[in-house]
Amino acid sequence: MLDIHCHILPYTDDGATDINASLDMAKKAEKLGYDGIFTTSHYIIHDNEIENKTFINNIKKLNEMFEIENINVKVYEGNEIFFTNDIVKLIKEKKVSTLANSRYVLVELPLFNSIIPMNVYDEFNKLQDAGFTPILAHPERYDFVTKNFKSLINLIESGILLQSNIGSITGKYGKDAKKNIEKMLKNNMVHFLATDSHNNTVYDVYDKAIKKIKKVINDDDIYEKIIYENPQKVLSNEEINIWYPKSSK
Ligand SMILES: [Fe+2]
Repeated sequence: MLDIHCHILPYTDDGATDINASLDMAKKAEKLGYDGIFTTSHYIIHDNEIENKTFINNIKKLNEMFEIENINVKVYEGNEIFFTNDIVKLIKEKKVSTLANSRYVLVELPLFNSIIPMNVYDEFNKLQDAGFTPILAHPERYDFVTKNFKSLINLIESGILLQSNIGSITGKYGKDAKKNIEKMLKNNMVHFLATDSHNNTVYDVYDKAIKKIKKVINDDDIYEKIIYENPQKVLSNEEINIWYPKSSK
C-alpha cells in the first residue's frame, strides 16, 4: 500500500521534525500496511522553496536509514505544491517534483478562500496540455468547497483528481471538512485516500477512520481503487480512468 501524501522527510517543512520523528512515522505506517510513501514536502514559492539536489539526496539518505533500521518502507519523491502561476515551468526547471517523477502533480490551494481562485482552471489546463495530471490535495478542507460543493464536480469534469485525507472523517480538520469528505465519499468524488501525516498522530486514529470511510463508501471496489489501485498507478505512471460523481450522472 502506498501513501501519496505525507510529510515524512525531516528538516524540510512543517512535517517530521527530526530523523527520529521520521523513523517513528515510518514504523507506524509499516504496521498499517504501507510499503511506500511519497514525501510530499511543501513547496511554497518565496516561502518554502526546496533546493532539488539537497531534497533528492535527503530522500536517498532517509531510504538508507530505513534499510539500516529494517523498516520495509520505500520513500519516493514528490511535492505538495502550493498553488502558483506556471507550475509547468517549475517542473521543467526541476524546482518541484511530480509524484515519483510521474505525470501526477500534487497541488494545494489556499484553505480560506471563499471562492475558488480564478486562475485555477487556466493553470490546471496548462499542466494537462503539458502532459501532467493535477491531483488536488484535501479538497474537503477548502472553504470554497464548503460554500459551493458543486465546484468539485466542475474540477472532476475537467480531469482533476481529488485526494482526501483519511483523518478528515474523524473531525481532525473540523466539522466542515468532516461533512465535506462524507459527501465526497458518498458521491464517489474521492480518487485517492492518503494520510497527509506531519507527525505520527494520524496513524493512531487510522483504524477508526478507515472503518468509517468503508462504511460511508459502501462499495468495496471503489475502496480498493482509492486506497490501493490508484496510488499504485501513480507510482507506475499509468493512466487513471476517472469516474464521475454519482450526483452528476
Ligand atoms: Fe500536506
